[in-house]
Amino acid sequence: MAERRVKDSFTSNFGMVAAAIGSAIGLGNLWRFPYLVGQNGGAAFIIVYLAITLLIATPILLAEMVIGRRGGGSPRESYIAVSGRKGWGVAGIIGMVTCFMIMSFYVVVGGWTVKYLLLSLSMAFSRGAQIDSVGLFSGFVGSSFPPIFYAALFIILTVAIICVGVQKGIEKTSKLMMPLLFVLIILIGIRSVTLPGAGAGLEYLFKPDFSHFTFDSLLAALGQSFFSLSLGACMLITYGAYTPRSSNLTKNAAIITVSDTFFAVLAGCAIMPAVFAFGINPSEGAGLVFVTLPQIFTQMPLGGLCSILFFIALFLAALSSSVSLFEVITASLMDICRISRGKAAAITAVVLTLTGCVCSLSQGVLKHITIAGMNIFDQFDYLSSNFLMTLGGLLTVICVGWFVKKPAFMDEITSGGTVKVPRPLAEILFFVIKYAAPVVIIVTALSIIF
Ligand code: PHE
Repeated sequence: MAERRVKDSFTSNFGMVAAAIGSAIGLGNLWRFPYLVGQNGGAAFIIVYLAITLLIATPILLAEMVIGRRGGGSPRESYIAVSGRKGWGVAGIIGMVTCFMIMSFYVVVGGWTVKYLLLSLSMAFSRGAQIDSVGLFSGFVGSSFPPIFYAALFIILTVAIICVGVQKGIEKTSKLMMPLLFVLIILIGIRSVTLPGAGAGLEYLFKPDFSHFTFDSLLAALGQSFFSLSLGACMLITYGAYTPRSSNLTKNAAIITVSDTFFAVLAGCAIMPAVFAFGINPSEGAGLVFVTLPQIFTQMPLGGLCSILFFIALFLAALSSSVSLFEVITASLMDICRISRGKAAAITAVVLTLTGCVCSLSQGVLKHITIAGMNIFDQFDYLSSNFLMTLGGLLTVICVGWFVKKPAFMDEITSGGTVKVPRPLAEILFFVIKYAAPVVIIVTALSIIF
């Protein structure tokens, strides 16, 4: 095992798990998952998503933590330490770039959540309020200055948490925000499923209809699983390095996956029944959360309160994920440029503000600039989730399966023999990491290309 390079670490295993769940639960669960379910046949998509998450994504998640805790440094340092080869450092740098690309559009949507939270607090979505939710949303995101202002605010909040440090910033806020998030989504879920006509939404979520499920749905399920669990972006390598040596990594991987998946299904239960109760098409797409839901809030009893709870949840979920993305970049810069945490965070914030501006403006004045038919915002989303994260996941499993190798893997997941992991389970996990996961990722990537 390599010597630990990081100075600041999580104080407890709960702190580590809360922070990782904070990273996993984000816009992916509340914004993306419900509309992907809507577009890909409801329960059919959920079943395939669950299977992929359990069989492929969880072992990859574990592999990332193994690299992080064993390597004990920034993603670049950890990759080099565990593989024993300098060239593997590139994988860590790719992870940093991936986080950077995700973060560039993530902060823009994060800014939208701030704006909508403030709107809901001003009772703009309370019952009986007259709003043109389509015009409100398109007018806001297509304008130049306001969305940039809110994105900048969102960046400042993220930086504030990062600068306080791993223990006092990330760990403390995650321990507080995560339980709150679950309470909020359960409250909204209760309101949603008790609306008249909500049953159709639940049926849609839990009764499989494979006629709308296509090969593209399968790819979407895989991509969503990666995105939602923050895989392939070195997030768990970074947090892995802050994990206590006594932690049971396999158990942590299971807790993180189950929590994230459970939250996604809860989000579906909070959103879909309301969508059906008001006779709205479930395959509305990306506007579901910012366009459809506000409309619904204005029509339902307790709508104003629900809108506040919902946008607080959306904001907190986005913030904790944003913190993790930012931390990967900051930790990497601290190592590569040998600078302090404060300086690294400042550089990240400045560059992000610039790229965030470009992404935000690409919804308005820069709309005409397209790459392969997509505006810059969509292109950043597409490239990072479909290409870079998959590449990152592939590099992780190859590194652990073929370079770290079985004895070191077993040593790490049992914390040097002090933590019990059933041998057959450990064997299966290693088999998936070494053979099954790389094959699935490569076959998927080839099918996207051809
Ligand atoms: N998992 C986060 C979400 O669901 C997004 C994310 C991706 C965060 C990669 C960190 C790293 O929104």
